[in-house]
Amino acid sequence: MRTGQDLLVEEYVKNRTESRQLHEQAARLFPANGATHSARVMDPFRPYITHAKGSRKWDVDGNEYIDYVMGHGTLILGHSHPAIVNALEKQVAKGLLYGDNHQLVVEWATLIQQMMPVAERVEFCTCGQEANMMGIWLSRVFTGRKKVLRMDENFHGWGEELVRKDLPGVSAENVDVIPFNDVEAAETALATGEYAILMTEGGGAHMAGQVPIFDELLYALPDLTRKYGTIWLIDEVVTGFRDAPGGWQSLKGVKPDLTTVGKCVGGGLPVGAVLGRADIMDALSPRAPKDRRISHSGTWNANAAVAAAGLAACKVYRDGAPQEAARAQGNYLRQRCNEVFKARGIKGRLYGRTIMHVYFGPIEFESEDVSMAPTRDVKKITDPTFGPVRDRLVFHLLNRGVSLLTAIGSGYFVMSSAHTKEDVDETVGAFEASLDAMLAEGSIPDALLGG
Ligand SMILES: Cc1ncc(COP(=O)(O)O)c(C=O)c1O
Repeated sequence: MRTGQDLLVEEYVKNRTESRQLHEQAARLFPANGATHSARVMDPFRPYITHAKGSRKWDVDGNEYIDYVMGHGTLILGHSHPAIVNALEKQVAKGLLYGDNHQLVVEWATLIQQMMPVAERVEFCTCGQEANMMGIWLSRVFTGRKKVLRMDENFHGWGEELVRKDLPGVSAENVDVIPFNDVEAAETALATGEYAILMTEGGGAHMAGQVPIFDELLYALPDLTRKYGTIWLIDEVVTGFRDAPGGWQSLKGVKPDLTTVGKCVGGGLPVGAVLGRADIMDALSPRAPKDRRISHSGTWNANAAVAAAGLAACKVYRDGAPQEAARAQGNYLRQRCNEVFKARGIKGRLYGRTIMHVYFGPIEFESEDVSMAPTRDVKKITDPTFGPVRDRLVFHLLNRGVSLLTAIGSGYFVMSSAHTKEDVDETVGAFEASLDAMLAEGSIPDALLGG
């Protein structure tokens, strides 16, 4: 007898014959089972997309999706926002990469500086992790120390000093990772006086706070890092301009020494930037003493095409209206989906601000704070036991035309200002149908029922 699980795969594949063919070709080219990013790995395969507009995207087989991947969190204005398309169209005709200085980049950085007061100076590079690597160099040169302090679960990219230390071959002996949300561990480490930099993700770990950062830690860090002479960097690659024009730090009222941004700042084109204190960033000046100077090359730095898109996007972000719109639809989605969970007695919840994190596990409290998971326990939030349940929900939703951003065991609804109430109502319908199908096929374990 075929199980419900087999039938889902069968139905999904039946409606995606062209995608399947492309996947078979791709699997011979790209080693990650045909995928080009770890978040695009899925069994049997993710659909192959032909075009996207606003909140929607379409695949080669003509299937339509409400898109919650939103360019890995980049597209808070939705796909192909007219202001960005116009700016790019004009710029393409005028040249993509001058390999020289140009006016757009000055305007763009000025706007960034106006939105984020932390940006006394701005340095552009190609992506978020490059910005983080530059942050490490700047803090080393400034402090004369070598070591990097990171928090468990916090993600900053895949480069040597940013990656998980247990990966085979990692030789980042100058990196230490301490438990997240542990003020005592942070103070003990910082008090050694060995660290050039402490890095934390804006909003908490994984896509703006799947594992939220607690106020006890957040508000201890400015004094602790100052006291022990360590540079504090907030990685706002996801939250920068997504949470607010002033970034997540403006919502929390903190001011780190350095901030990195990426994703939204480029309006959908690849970019990263370090923003921060002039005295730290002066190491990039040709007038800095030779032993305290960093020379920064990078073919694509601040190229004209990205600057055109980024400037156009930042002009739209400036008044905070798109962020508010994304938050409003996120609130509505969270509230409706949580009603669905509760009505079925399923121990699951959505939480988050403009990115909704899907949680399965014990519901230890219902918080007024929309950023909070139903538990403070990191192990429960990231419990691999329930990862397959999230994966299954993501697959059911995809089969019903709702596309989430995934990482193994995680699912994220990335909201944008292009999502409408109708999109959310349709999503909730698919969410209900998916959970009902999961109850029927028995893919929700007993431990998650009776809540
Ligand atoms: C918090 C955070 N920092 C850094 C990065 C790396 O950015 P990029 O992929 O642009 O290099 C990411 C990517 O998702 C991220 O989520």
